[in-house]
Amino acid sequence: MIVVYDSLTGLGKEFAEALGYPAQSVDMDLNEACLLVTRNVGLGKIPDTTSLFLDRHKELVTGVVVNGNKKFGPFYCKAADKINKLYHIPVIRKISGSGDQEDVEFVKQFLKGQGN
Ligand SMILES: Cc1cc2nc3c(=O)[nH]c(=O)nc-3n(C[C@H](O)[C@H](O)[C@H](O)COP(=O)(O)O)c2cc1C
Repeated sequence: MIVVYDSLTGLGKEFAEALGYPAQSVDMDLNEACLLVTRNVGLGKIPDTTSLFLDRHKELVTGVVVNGNKKFGPFYCKAADKINKLYHIPVIRKISGSGDQEDVEFVKQFLKGQGN
């Protein structure tokens, strides 16, 4: 299990690295099951870099965490719902910024429940 992040300003990367598993960026090669941590652009849009990654590797992605900003109101972490609809990947958690300890624990429990 590896955690793959798509992070522009570092918040998602920080969360990915807090989970205690190996972590790597979305633009690197991938040959094993992963959790994806990604973000939103343009009102709940999926970043192009994430779409490219999912088009190639969606079978390896066991779940997605999206980090966003609550100031976007109804569009808060909307990219998560779009990823679920388009790629049928479970949304594990929507987090604000780099998340908090509760978010870290929740996602760690999910990963443990998957046998990791
Ligand atoms: C152009 C732009 C649009 C955004 N739109 C949304 C949005 O619709 N919903 C949301 O929750 N966050 C939105 N965000 C906030 C990003 O999800 C936030 O910047 C992201 O968590 C940063 O993650 P990173 O530090 O890993 O790059 C937007 C940010 C930018 C720059």
